Amino acid sequence: MQLSLKHCGIRSWRAEDAATLPQFANNRNISRNLRDTFPHPYTADHASSFIATALDQSPETHFAIEVDGLAVGGIGVRLRDDIERYVAELGYWLGEPFWGHGIATEAVTAISSFAIREYSLQRIEAWVFHWNPASARVLEKAGYRWEATLRRSAVKEGQVIDRMLYALLPEIPQDTLTGTKASR
Ligand SMILES: CC(C)(COP(=O)(O)OP(=O)(O)OC[C@H]1O[C@@H](n2cnc3c(N)ncnc32)[C@H](O)[C@@H]1OP(=O)(O)O)[C@@H](O)C(=O)NCCC(=O)NCCS
Repeated sequence: MQLSLKHCGIRSWRAEDAATLPQFANNRNISRNLRDTFPHPYTADHASSFIATALDQSPETHFAIEVDGLAVGGIGVRLRDDIERYVAELGYWLGEPFWGHGIATEAVTAISSFAIREYSLQRIEAWVFHWNPASARVLEKAGYRWEATLRRSAVKEGQVIDRMLYALLPEIPQDTLTGTKASR
């Protein structure tokens, strides 16, 4: 997979990204805003094992954000199943030296369109810790809408926290929702 955007690219992970990934991922300013599955400290072993898992996925749902030929961040979705099989959860992070240039907004916008099309989604959700207004702003700029604040809905670094729930819904004719396309 490869998307060429104005400020960055989004592409499949490569095994060789493991060597350089920790220099961007090993940062508490990043890990404190993500699920605990994103480790801190972040080592080359973590990078190798994450990339191997990402490359083993079918369909592929986790991608690198590339700037100047280097993987400097990650973006992807978790596909839900059962009654939520048309829903996915978005996640993303970017190396701190690249913050503040519109890269995440561009990447979130592009991956959202890609994911809606590629996985036939009716809804993409993103969960933002209450202390992370930059991420909330990224989602708003990418067309996501705030739906709720889920009080005490997570624990991070020993603190029970509120999370904001954002969602993006593609414009889909109502008859498609009840017709055969929704029967999978
Ligand atoms: C959140 C993150 C992805 C943003 O990446 P980025 O490339 O800097 O984002 P953008 O430049 O596209 O947009 C950032 C926006 O947030 C705004 N912003 C930054 N800090 C802010 C703050 N403290 N309060 C309010 N807005 C803030 C910026 O001004 C910008 O908005 P603007 O264009 O209207 O000025 C990056 O900081 C990151 O990786 N953080 C750690 C991981 C993370 O939080 N992932 C998301 C989990 S939900």
